[in-house]
Amino acid sequence: MELLTAINTRTSAARLREPGPSVTQLSQIIAAAERAPDHGRLRPWNFSILAGELREKFATVAALAKRAKLPHLDDAQVEVDRQKILRSPCVVVIACTLRDQSKIPDIEQIVAVGAATQNFFLAAHDLGFGVMWKTGHAAYDANVKACLSLNPKDHIIGIMHLGTRV
Ligand SMILES: Cc1cc2nc3c(=O)[nH]c(=O)nc-3n(C[C@H](O)[C@H](O)[C@H](O)COP(=O)(O)O)c2cc1C
Repeated sequence: MELLTAINTRTSAARLREPGPSVTQLSQIIAAAERAPDHGRLRPWNFSILAGELREKFATVAALAKRAKLPHLDDAQVEVDRQKILRSPCVVVIACTLRDQSKIPDIEQIVAVGAATQNFFLAAHDLGFGVMWKTGHAAYDANVKACLSLNPKDHIIGIMHLGTRV
């Protein structure tokens, strides 16, 4: 796919099914993300591929983060939110891990990870996958960050769902 075609045909995929990307394809997608412009070559990005126990833990903590902000949600709704994360063919959380010692301002590090996230999206789209870029309450929750071994001051830029577009 030509770059302009990829950009001009990119849309969010609200519904996804299996298959998601293979390990090789995911490596290609992340390698493309890491080609983003990055002031100071700090590589301030972090990619958490949610599999196995980490996915289970993330799904629970993320669903509870939403209820912490919306206390009227009952257990059934929390379970619906948990299942959204568990059912997705592939979930990758992209975060900005701020390099404190650097003279590069935080905002420039955050923007670099935003650019990496768009590269990630376009690369997955180019390989034929549907993508949904999400954040929501989970992205701003300290327990969610801790679950991914991020620092409280780090920023979750995208909770990326990938799969085959329905
Ligand atoms: C930083 C960021 C966070 C987003 N968070 C959410 C989200 O939590 N839930 C959601 O449904 N869409 C989310 N989106 C996706 C946008 O809403 C989506 O791109 C928008 O609806 C436009 O649709 P399109 O991507 O098909 O052009 C997010 C997008 C960005 C860039």
